[in-house]
Amino acid sequence: MNIVDIINKKRVGKTLTYEELKYVFLGYLNNKIESYQVSALLMAICINGMTDEETINLTKVFIESGEILDLSSIPGVKVDKHSTGGVGDKTTLVIAPIVASCGVYMAKMSGRGLGYTGGTIDKLESIEGFKTGLSKEEFLQELKDIGLVISSQTAELAPIDKKVYALRDVTGTVESYPLIAASIMSKKIASGADKILIDLKLGIGALIHNESDANKLKEIMIKIGNSFNRETRVMITSMDAPLGRNIGNSLEVMEAIEVLKGNIDTPFASLCIELASNLVSMGKGISLSDAEAEVIQVIKNNQAYNKFLEFVKYQHGNINSLKVSDEKIEIRSTKRGILKGINARIVGEVSMKLGAGRVAKDDPIDPSVGISLNKQVHDKIVEDDLLCTLYVNKVKDEFNIRDAFIIE
Ligand code: URA
Repeated sequence: MNIVDIINKKRVGKTLTYEELKYVFLGYLNNKIESYQVSALLMAICINGMTDEETINLTKVFIESGEILDLSSIPGVKVDKHSTGGVGDKTTLVIAPIVASCGVYMAKMSGRGLGYTGGTIDKLESIEGFKTGLSKEEFLQELKDIGLVISSQTAELAPIDKKVYALRDVTGTVESYPLIAASIMSKKIASGADKILIDLKLGIGALIHNESDANKLKEIMIKIGNSFNRETRVMITSMDAPLGRNIGNSLEVMEAIEVLKGNIDTPFASLCIELASNLVSMGKGISLSDAEAEVIQVIKNNQAYNKFLEFVKYQHGNINSLKVSDEKIEIRSTKRGILKGINARIVGEVSMKLGAGRVAKDDPIDPSVGISLNKQVHDKIVEDDLLCTLYVNKVKDEFNIRDAFIIE
């Protein structure tokens, strides 16, 4: 096989075989193919797309490049959930203890945030002492003992994806739905759960900006899941405005706790309930409405909150350590009207610049900073109304946060 022939084949829009994909991507992992050659191929994939079969084969190559976690020692159905990424997305922190309280095992490997999107591992690490790097044995033991576990993604799962994702990030080849589908589904399948729920974010603060791409991505993710014998549901949900009120690591954990304590009359809580109900419905093979009744019950009777505390303690976290910075900047409106939108992208970028996120992969983050929104979309605004509060520490700047609030 010849790498240039393979690049040329994709450049003219032909379909690559499993063997060709394996040759390129495994070769890249093993340093036998150069990054500039893989970059050229990735760009050709971005432009010309891939057939469903090709995307499934690419996923297979990614999965086979590493280990597949074997969860069969845990009895019953294991579920996993993944969000394609957004701003203020702390749903996993709420959903995982709810699902486990309903008697469904939730085994999840999560990532860190990059750029304006946050990551569950960073949010959990805002709890002092919380251990996110678990060995395989620790992962399985915790799942067995308390019914849920969240750990950072190990290097052994789909290692090609890690290397290719870093290359996509610097070659303008992130936003291609076959590449996104193969990247996400390979990690989810290798993580071992039987059933997978994908929260596919659509909107200005998401990777996917239009409905037609979202639907294509949804369809192929379901096909990939099915072809590996994993029941897969995909929910397309909005990421135009940030999710919930708080953006920033400690702030988001605090908001998740409020939902678990029973504050469920918010759009954010409704999304958590819907996602959790889908997982319980898949895990137990029951209807969505029966699942939702169970979900609401475990919130109302405090089981879910107690499960969260058990989970934090099991992973050595001190829940009383959560803190946000004492230094605040209040942003008030200079206009009156209706709040038509809150631009998730701008809010995410400002939060990152304040120190809550990272520009480069290994940047440190500050768990104590972030943004707390005081108004919701559709609210009436008068002059001097508090729009949001910035929690600042080393970087004391409001940046362009006002531009995020569309008041008409
Ligand atoms: N998240 C991933 O893990 N991979 C992608 O390609 C996009 C989002």
